[in-house]
Amino acid sequence: MGRLIVFEGIDGSGKSTQFKMLCERLEAEGRDFRRLVFPQYSEPSSAPLRMYLAGEFGNRPEDVNAYAASTFFAVDRFASYNKVWKDYYQGGGIMMADRYTTSNAVHQASKLPDGEREEFFAWLDHFEYTLLGLPKPDAVFYMDVPVETAVGQLRRREGATNTKGDIHESDTGYLRKCHECAAAASEYFGWTKINCTRDGTMRSVEDIHEEIYNLLKEVL
Ligand SMILES: Nc1ncnc2c1ncn2[C@@H]1O[C@H](COP(=O)(O)OP(=O)(O)OP(=O)(O)O)[C@@H](O)[C@H]1O
Ligand SMILES: [Mg+2]
Repeated sequence: MGRLIVFEGIDGSGKSTQFKMLCERLEAEGRDFRRLVFPQYSEPSSAPLRMYLAGEFGNRPEDVNAYAASTFFAVDRFASYNKVWKDYYQGGGIMMADRYTTSNAVHQASKLPDGEREEFFAWLDHFEYTLLGLPKPDAVFYMDVPVETAVGQLRRREGATNTKGDIHESDTGYLRKCHECAAAASEYFGWTKINCTRDGTMRSVEDIHEEIYNLLKEVL
């Protein structure tokens, strides 16, 4: 089996920024690896999750329950694994992923009351890894960023790219619950927490990158 490295965190926490930077460094070093970015918005396997994020089943995230919404995202990963990277990974290949099964733990557990979240994590683990047969990550870098900081980064990005957030990104109360769930999931699944702020402000992209790069050496 190969290795699977995942970047996770709430919306706007800097996953894609760090993912790109690490991939570029590995590429410059001449390492053999492949990239995965979820959701795969341009693939047909993401149709149900696109309908959900666009609000076709309701404008609030809670309009689709945690279990139902999780299946939409899991189908997209099932298609990707079985069509694209199974052979490479099973032959020992290294996969780098911007989000994965871990995103259901962050974004869907948040719809459940506190006391029901662990049961959901256990179901997710069984559903995605055992029943669907998706590989378990070898390392999950959890970008820990306070909600206010992440929301600030999201809004700035929306301004800069002239885009509007989806039903998850535009709901700050929901993002707050996602942050709670990310912390709980990080403990439950044993993710590697990256504290992205220092004294209340965001660390530089380069500083965070160095920490992740050094941690990666222990996994590869
Ligand atoms: N360390 C940092 N310092 C300042 N700005 C940052 C830092 N990391 C990321 N950003 C900026 O914050 C915004 C969100 O970052 P990014 O898109 O990487 O987050 P993300 O977690 O991938 O978001 P999403 O969940 O929406 O995919 C971007 O505009 C990015 O340039
Ligand atoms: Mg991103």
